[in-house]
Amino acid sequence: MELNKQSDWVARSLRSVWHPCTQMQHHETIPLIPVSRGKGAWLYDHDGHRYLDAISSWWVNLFGHANPRINAALKDQLDTLEHAMLAGFTHEPVIELSEKLSALTGHVLGHSFYASDGASAVEIALKMSFHSWRNNGHTAKQEFVCLKGSYHGETIGALAVTDVALFKDAYGPLLRASQTVMSPDARTATEGETAQDVARRAASDVERLFTERGDKIAAIIIEPLVQCATGMAMHDPLYLQLVRALCDQHNVHLILDEIAVGCGRTGTFFACEQAGVWPDFLCLSKGISGGYLPLSLVMTRDDIYQAFYSNDVTRGFLHSHSYTGNPLACRAALATLQIFEEDDVLNTNRVKAERLTQALQPLAQHEQVRNFRQRGMIWAFDAIDAPKDFSRRFFATATEHELLMRPIGATVYMMPPYILSDEEIDGLAANTLAVFNKVMAG
Ligand SMILES: Cc1ncc(COP(=O)(O)O)c(C=O)c1O
Repeated sequence: MELNKQSDWVARSLRSVWHPCTQMQHHETIPLIPVSRGKGAWLYDHDGHRYLDAISSWWVNLFGHANPRINAALKDQLDTLEHAMLAGFTHEPVIELSEKLSALTGHVLGHSFYASDGASAVEIALKMSFHSWRNNGHTAKQEFVCLKGSYHGETIGALAVTDVALFKDAYGPLLRASQTVMSPDARTATEGETAQDVARRAASDVERLFTERGDKIAAIIIEPLVQCATGMAMHDPLYLQLVRALCDQHNVHLILDEIAVGCGRTGTFFACEQAGVWPDFLCLSKGISGGYLPLSLVMTRDDIYQAFYSNDVTRGFLHSHSYTGNPLACRAALATLQIFEEDDVLNTNRVKAERLTQALQPLAQHEQVRNFRQRGMIWAFDAIDAPKDFSRRFFATATEHELLMRPIGATVYMMPPYILSDEEIDGLAANTLAVFNKVMAG
């Protein structure tokens, strides 16, 4: 039997692997693609077809697959220390990473707590917020606030502050209730309103809630600048300034979930820099390890840290994961940060972004497209009167045009790695247009 045949891998995977975020039956009609290797922005299957990873493999990959610099760092780390528990022990990669991240916030967020995936970071931020209020005597502060359309992960705690019916509804009875406020999504502007007007309107909804029950609210959690999973809903930075002020006024923590929008994705290293504010908790994951290994962390302020600092063990933050602060993952993150420095990535991205925005103009002007939008290295547009099963059909058609793209509902988006060449940028735009036309034509 030939073991490397594409169809064999597909059959074996469908028999034994339960794929994430997937109705498995759909693979009766939609192809499952077994990836044999990756290089740069490209993934290759066993038949030698290639796919431009235009969504960075679920928004994690920043500097391409099999990046030589990250590979070298990991190979070195592998021969030095692959893992050691972080309770009672520490190691160079986790120390250096914490120091570097702290410096990136001007040492405002000087304490980093580690986990593996994004949802765990959200759980940690929620628990830390609640527990720090409790340690300070504010035991009534037990509620969390999230935005309409928010997505913060799918574990039970993170799902409670997620507002996407598809992920949440089935588990409703298991979840703690949270308060939901209006999204500052600039697309909801009424006639004559600007994005800043929408931000003000959304902030006044937060003010209403904080005035009503601020004494019961521990924290509000926001994905700053772009609510990604709801369909790349973008908002004005003013919203973050206004909410930061309301949090200060009403004694409510601000949790910023930068799991998807951090690490340069929106044009600054942290999205919140564009608003000139820092949160009380900042969650980071996905791109921080360059898309190599599961790593997440929560950064927080010294006053929060001090609320746990005591001789009493029960006042400590008693949360742990086996792989907390894994040295390999931290080393991948350090290599990632080094690339940011060495390649002046934020400035280089501005040039790349300008080129892709230009190349996408035929789509921006397309008569079946509305709300073409861009922030940093995120592009999105909404299909007008999208046909049934638009997203799945787009995905399948895109693979025929050497593209990996997965629209969210009728929203087509791109979140490519930061290493696209001019040729790849132009090809991405041209192929996206071709795929869009084909799918819209049915
Ligand atoms: C904003 C945001 N928060 C949290 C998560 C959850 O991260 P993970 O899938 O690693 O649990 C995601 C994942 O897409 C996300 O986009």
